[in-house]
Amino acid sequence: MVTAQEPRVRPPIHTPVVAMRAPEPAAEPVPEPSTLEHAFELRDLSAWYGSAQALRDITFDIPKNHVTAIIGPSGCGKSTLIRCLNRMNDLIPGFRAGGHIAYHGEDINGPEADPVLLRRHIGMVFQKPNPFPKSVFDNVAFGPRINGYSGDLRALVEESLRRAALWDEVRDKLGASGLALSGGQQQRLCIARALAVEPDVLLMDEPCSALDPIATYRIEELIADLKRDYSIVIVTHNMQQASRVSDLTAFLLAGEERMGELVEFGATRDLFTNPKDERTEAYITGRFG
Ligand SMILES: Nc1ncnc2c1ncn2[C@@H]1O[C@H](COP(=O)(O)OP(=O)(O)O)[C@@H](O)[C@H]1O
Ligand SMILES: [Mg+2]
Repeated sequence: MVTAQEPRVRPPIHTPVVAMRAPEPAAEPVPEPSTLEHAFELRDLSAWYGSAQALRDITFDIPKNHVTAIIGPSGCGKSTLIRCLNRMNDLIPGFRAGGHIAYHGEDINGPEADPVLLRRHIGMVFQKPNPFPKSVFDNVAFGPRINGYSGDLRALVEESLRRAALWDEVRDKLGASGLALSGGQQQRLCIARALAVEPDVLLMDEPCSALDPIATYRIEELIADLKRDYSIVIVTHNMQQASRVSDLTAFLLAGEERMGELVEFGATRDLFTNPKDERTEAYITGRFG
């Protein structure tokens, strides 16, 4: 009797390729700037040092709870721009700003605005870590003490150090000088000091440029973590860093007149993969700057 042969099922000799690939991390959606809630709105912001104009007619919005990078060649006005956001330039003789900056809808340069109060909401971290020549504890407690903080100061210091991803490294040496820490630890100490006054925004002007790659990596990780609770603006001349840490990027350039102008602003992924302006393209592909 002839029986119909069962079709033979040949066992596969290769595991299907798709099954071998590690699962893709869920890609974060590319933010669409126009749909986000704003921490700052900049309109026609211009800035002068004496008679020299450093910024011309900068207009864009900085969203809440995202990381916004400001990139561009040296001297294009990145630091000037970030220092306008907490009125830090007011301290420079001869400085003058034009245009309009709103912080949560309020004019930061208006007659009612108080720069000291404003800076309480807007923490700042600089290029070179600048701990005070005081203990780790006193560095972090400094701002709350000045503000007359009446809660549990030890708990606040610990919480701030934890948020800055430094607690585990300094919990046993809170009394040691902040200056005795490594460069990367000093920068995280400065971040903890900024966080201790419970700000809403963190401004960082090239926070990693004095750090080694490992310390830089830790700060970048920390930035990713902090954006859940803070709006972060970071100036960086390192484009890889901007593409790693930021959601949105503003590209500034100073032309022949040496005034910084905004060339392009948008979602970081779009700006780096599909720039709209040929000057952005030239910059990100390393053709100048
Ligand atoms: N305190 C200052 N006094 C006078 N000019 C300044 C001062 N700070 C910056 N500038 C000038 O403003 C321009 C922009 O500088 P800056 O904002 O520091 O650029 P960036 O941070 O992109 O390197 C430069 O021409 C610089 O020389
Ligand atoms: Mg600068």
